Amino acid sequence: MTSTIEQVIAGCEWQRDLCRKNGAPTYVALINELIERLGADDTVTDLLTSDGQNPVQSALCLRLFGAVNRIAMDGSEDWITRYYPTMGGEADPDRVVPAFFDFLLANVDSVREQMRVAVQTNEVGRAAPLSAAVNYVAHATGRPLRLLEVGSSAGLNLLLDHYRVEGPHGPWGPADSALRLEGHFTSGEPQAAVPEVVERRGCDLNPIDVHAPGTPNLLRSFVWPEHVERARRLEAALTVARSAPPLTLDAADACSWVAEHVDDPEPGRTTVLFHSIVLPYFDPDERDRFSKLVRSRGEQTDEDRPLAWISLEPSEEDSSVVNLICEIWPMGRKVLLARTTPHGTQVHWDPQELLT
Ligand SMILES: C[S@@+](CC[C@H](N)C(=O)[O-])C[C@H]1O[C@@H](n2cnc3c(N)ncnc32)[C@H](O)[C@@H]1O
Repeated sequence: MTSTIEQVIAGCEWQRDLCRKNGAPTYVALINELIERLGADDTVTDLLTSDGQNPVQSALCLRLFGAVNRIAMDGSEDWITRYYPTMGGEADPDRVVPAFFDFLLANVDSVREQMRVAVQTNEVGRAAPLSAAVNYVAHATGRPLRLLEVGSSAGLNLLLDHYRVEGPHGPWGPADSALRLEGHFTSGEPQAAVPEVVERRGCDLNPIDVHAPGTPNLLRSFVWPEHVERARRLEAALTVARSAPPLTLDAADACSWVAEHVDDPEPGRTTVLFHSIVLPYFDPDERDRFSKLVRSRGEQTDEDRPLAWISLEPSEEDSSVVNLICEIWPMGRKVLLARTTPHGTQVHWDPQELLT
């Protein structure tokens, strides 16, 4: 399937808007140049129109940037370290644009190949609200926890209890952790806890092995150039993950995996099923099947096998507002714990019971 130039431009404009709103002037400048070149530069036009995927749904610009970034990082290219703040450089859109396009045109075959890789981010800033929710469940159920994550990417958030989180009323997590999540909570009083995690497992359509040699650059390539704090968190989380026991991440879709794994064969533990920024990738039918499946399993649990469902997902009204919701069975309790941003910063912790 090819796209028309107009469809690609629409995808570029959509992405540019998001980059503008989210502090990424380098990508705004690169997208402006892409738009200029569409129809005028045969190589760029062919690369983007023959890509074969929907420019918006597949985040065409981000796949292109990820591809170019990875090839540049693998070759230790000077321009990327000089002009990407995430790589230690200084943002300079006027200089980065010609350097980026020269490099792209010199490496177009490799870029085309690398653009097949889907955008993969694993944002550990979300571990701050997620771990507060896990603490909430630990207090509510008082049992060892099985952590099950849907859409786990590289599984970095499955290690949430390995990170140090500074809450408004004190920290939790290991004091010597390489990853410190500070300043994420802007209000409220989340409780500290040292949950006992007895099992952890995740699934993703495309799971990433943190121990594979290409993984660090794969994850780095999708961090936007000005997002220095995200890059710092990623490096620290990779350090933690490298020394943690290997994770089991299954290549599976959410519904079939939950159906197979959510029931606990052993009594006396709480199963915590969680996900962050995954539901927008489901089609409406899959969303519906997923929530019905989790609820029906919840309704079948008993006192010996509590099930908690933690969801950190964009609100329906405004995708820049992310709701942290927790449902626990057999209590049948549903609580909106907090509101936060897509990267788990600015957490307003304010638990409110919701009707089930
Ligand atoms: C935006 S990423 C979020 C990753 C991670 N949860 C985080 O917060 O960093 C969305 C992830 O969901 C995965 N995903 C999308 N649809 C899925 C499905 N139907 N089943 C399992 N994983 C899915 C994608 O592969 C991707 O890794």
